[in-house]
Amino acid sequence: MLLSDKVIVVTGGNSGIGAAICKAAAAEGAKVVIDYVAHEDATEQLVNEIKGAGGEATGVEADISKPDDLHRMMQTAVDTYGRLDVLVNNAGIETRQSLLDSTEDDYDKVMAVNMKSAFFASQAAAKQFIAQRTPGLILNISSVHEDWPMPGNIAYCVSKGGMRMLARTAGVELGPHGIRMVNIAPGAVDTPINASTTSNTELLGKLTDAIPLHRVAEPSDIADVVVFLASGKASYMTSTTVVVDGGIMQGSVGL
Ligand code: BGC
Repeated sequence: MLLSDKVIVVTGGNSGIGAAICKAAAAEGAKVVIDYVAHEDATEQLVNEIKGAGGEATGVEADISKPDDLHRMMQTAVDTYGRLDVLVNNAGIETRQSLLDSTEDDYDKVMAVNMKSAFFASQAAAKQFIAQRTPGLILNISSVHEDWPMPGNIAYCVSKGGMRMLARTAGVELGPHGIRMVNIAPGAVDTPINASTTSNTELLGKLTDAIPLHRVAEPSDIADVVVFLASGKASYMTSTTVVVDGGIMQGSVGL
């Protein structure tokens, strides 16, 4: 197994890409801590599914936009499984507003969930890795929009652009401690965040036409890359982004 006994924390782990990461990591032998802020029932179901398949998982309710909650989340991993090996900053939201339409509240919410949480969760994880004297890995589920403008979704793009620079800079700062930080930049994925597009036949058609591989990604397409990056097969990768987008970024418009 590629992740035998590694302890992995996944923020926003009870749905979409996060849930796929939890399942894929557990199937490769990892012990998974599933962070959630809502839908305790979905978390319990996921924990049971993973355990039913012979894996190990536990849920922790934490609002990742609050540093105190982040510390409690990391502590749960250490108390439950004895250590921390991988943090996946996965939780994310978008509001689909332009610069002219954005309110301060919406902006703050997007930045808190996507960016501030990744910043302080990374800080907490890095401190834990250093205290353990072990190498560690921080993965950010970013987006093609860390680099590629999406008009009408500007706060999201700004937050993902921040994540891009978080990985670049923290990767350099933490490298001497043996800690790696890598972003994964998905394109369009079939998850709740994209439901308004994927449930609309016309919009979905336009979107798949813009993707060279002509399909929206499954969450497992992203989870497979997480498993690779967390395995011993990617130990020289840090301070960079892996794009997993079916080629969409080479097309013309973000949808
Ligand atoms: C956004 C989606 C968008 C996709 C491709 C994702 O990061 O969440 O709204 O469809 O990128 O543009």
